Amino acid sequence: MAEKKIQKIEDLPGIGPTTAEKLREAGYTTIESIAVASPAELMEVAGLGEGTAIKVINAARDALEMSWMSAKELMEKRTIVGRITTGSRALDELIGGGVETQAITEFYGKFGSGKTQICHQLAVNVQLPMDKGGLDGNALYIDTENTFRPERAVQMAKAVGLDPEKALEHIYVARAYNSDHQMVLVEKAREIIEEKNIKLIVVDSLTAHFRAEYVGRGALAERQQKLNRHIHALQKLADTYNLAVVVTNQVMAKPDMFFGDPTEPVGGHVLGHAATYRIYLRKGKGDKRIARLVDSPHLPEGEAVFRITMNGIEDE
Ligand code: GTP
Ligand code: MG
Repeated sequence: MAEKKIQKIEDLPGIGPTTAEKLREAGYTTIESIAVASPAELMEVAGLGEGTAIKVINAARDALEMSWMSAKELMEKRTIVGRITTGSRALDELIGGGVETQAITEFYGKFGSGKTQICHQLAVNVQLPMDKGGLDGNALYIDTENTFRPERAVQMAKAVGLDPEKALEHIYVARAYNSDHQMVLVEKAREIIEEKNIKLIVVDSLTAHFRAEYVGRGALAERQQKLNRHIHALQKLADTYNLAVVVTNQVMAKPDMFFGDPTEPVGGHVLGHAATYRIYLRKGKGDKRIARLVDSPHLPEGEAVFRITMNGIEDE
């Protein structure tokens, strides 16, 4: 390819400055981000007309020479999949060697089952070198319930031999105040991902705001639709930047429910189909926790026991 590579969205053929500006403001700052977008998304998020949206996406795809991927290329894409250790060998094995990049991993369970502790641990462990189970990268931590604790990350960092000060600097925490804010944080994450070498995005909790804001039967459809969009935005980041996405979802035992699974995730089945890996957590004796892999595409269902100790997530 002798031609000069198009690197800025302003340089895409047929894209005017107004459109470029709209795209930038909506967080589409790179050619890649536009190339992987859908027309409906650009219409909704960036306020473009349908014709313009299609034109922009095609121009971005041409610029990247994106086309169908052969199975061989797909295989190559899979071979760059990275994994982050949870701190427990048993839990790692259950999920195929650690939390994967290019995928969404959902931890769900009741209060105190260990969801937030696992998130903290992964935000620390992603910083480890590859031969120690990390990805030599940094973490973006979207905290919706104000439960991120730097002190806890420090304990965990010390236990895995990281400089605790540096470990904290490498976790970029954002409080999400409501579901819209949470979605915007993800939609605008591209810049910081590239700039800060982000290899893990945590959303703890994925569903709490949605559940609190969209109450009652009438609001259910809208809630699911928004959650769907949010999850797709996350999946897109996972694919585009080869990073891992970890989300949590609290389930409550419903006292008024006599039939069916009392620990049905509150996000409902939208999440069930969107997350690549789903792990159900429950309490065991003392500091023990039991993880069960649910509906995985290519791994056998099974259980693993781990502990939550002073050092973080550990084997029993
Ligand atoms: P919800 O967000 O309420 O749904 O719960 P969760 O699943 O996020 O639970 P979380 O990860 O917060 O787990 C809480 C459990 O982890 C507590 O019951 C403690 O047993 C343990 N834990 C939390 N912090 C510490 C700590 O600093 N040291 C130790 N040893 N254990 C801790
Ligand atoms: Mg929690």
